Amino acid sequence: MWWADAVIYQIYPRSFQDSDGDGVGDLRGIEQRLDHLAWLGVDALWLSPIYPSPMHDFGYDVADYKDVDPVFGALSDFDRLVAAARERGLRVLLDVVPCHTSIEHRWFREHPDWYIWADEPNNWSSAFGGTAWTKLNGRYYLHSFYPEQADLDWRNPEVVAAMQDAFRFWIERGAAGYRVDAIDRLMKDPQLRDDPLASEPFGLPLREDEAKLALTYSRNAPDTGEALARIREAVGDALLVGEIYLPSAKWQPYLDHLDRAFAFELLHAPWDPERLRSAIEATSSRPGAAWVLSNHDFGRLVTRFGPENARSAALLLLTLPGPAFLYQGDEIGLADGPGGERVYDRAGRDRYRHPMQWDGSPSGGFTSGEAWLPPVDPEETNVEAQHDDPRSMLSLVRDLLTVRRLLGDGLELIEAGPGVLAYRRGDHAIAINTTPERQPAALDGDLVLETRPGAFSRGVLAPHAGAISRA
Ligand code: NOJ
Repeated sequence: MWWADAVIYQIYPRSFQDSDGDGVGDLRGIEQRLDHLAWLGVDALWLSPIYPSPMHDFGYDVADYKDVDPVFGALSDFDRLVAAARERGLRVLLDVVPCHTSIEHRWFREHPDWYIWADEPNNWSSAFGGTAWTKLNGRYYLHSFYPEQADLDWRNPEVVAAMQDAFRFWIERGAAGYRVDAIDRLMKDPQLRDDPLASEPFGLPLREDEAKLALTYSRNAPDTGEALARIREAVGDALLVGEIYLPSAKWQPYLDHLDRAFAFELLHAPWDPERLRSAIEATSSRPGAAWVLSNHDFGRLVTRFGPENARSAALLLLTLPGPAFLYQGDEIGLADGPGGERVYDRAGRDRYRHPMQWDGSPSGGFTSGEAWLPPVDPEETNVEAQHDDPRSMLSLVRDLLTVRRLLGDGLELIEAGPGVLAYRRGDHAIAINTTPERQPAALDGDLVLETRPGAFSRGVLAPHAGAISRA
């Protein structure tokens, strides 16, 4: 399987590269920057949604599953991108959003019965807060996310057929697979029963009001597998990575049909050796993890773990066994930004979506116009300045992409000094000092890589540093 140990680079198309000066990134822009990805050494790119959309949730509110939004280009630009990526040995994954469509999708007008309706709302809440029901023409439609995103009824065979058609469309055009959005919300209780009160923790962070409920009926219905089987049927053996917002102990019914699941327990673990260790232990005790530590919903390595730990976070992400997802900008240590004057995302996620910084010019080389969100700090942090500096974060990430191919199979967590997370991959050992003090670390053999020059010497790891050795 090409993806077994692949590194998949997440592109947020609005913010990667603008080619036409309108301040918003586009497919031609991505094509122009493919050499960066080939040079870095990733295997594939995943594009967050590029479909026509009113952009209330930046493309996660799809208005047509089989076209490209004009802001990103045209279908022919997608074809060009796939061909140009292929020439560089890169595969292209898309983001498919099967749970809901935009309320501006013609299906919502023409086929209201393809959606989930109730005469009265129940107690289900939307992921962004408040009720999951909005009144329209005397009835209520369900939206697990924004009111602009109406939930499809996957128990309706016409929905299944239409979505299978959409899934097939991009595979036939050369996509190598999909990141499948919000898939734990695909199927809900057909009787729309109220979620009962929670009697045990959910296992992943939730909003306070959500955490009070057991979320038994509003998601993860027992027959989800039947819908997933139809998705698998449509895509053949293309890669399917599920955004399953459930602890790994509940993945199996999904993994009967999908290839991989994002490891949210690790993504949400604080930079604490015990918490990281138990998240890795829980998630890697069964196959199926796709590792990810940052994305357009939860923010970047530098901000999540602190600038002092960002390099070690990259080391961790890229040395666990199995596919890993690297969010654009994390390879140069880009931080979350302040957002812009205008608020685009009502859930507060603009700050994770500032443009990529290619050079030290005021626009960071992202656009010749005015960027939709201002760049964060291009003069400080950019690809060009780090490119030929062997001590840069960019060089570290590139080196990690080479070294990870040499690591052995499997994963064995090992004991190391206090505050040190350590594990073995075959004859390689990896150790990360999570503390601000120097710590002894059990790394034997030859030093293969360190997060900074001099990070590991005479059996001791510098504060916040990490290293790889080979016995
Ligand atoms: C998960 C996506 O990553 C997020 O950005 C989006 O808001 C929701 N799913 C709804 O589609």
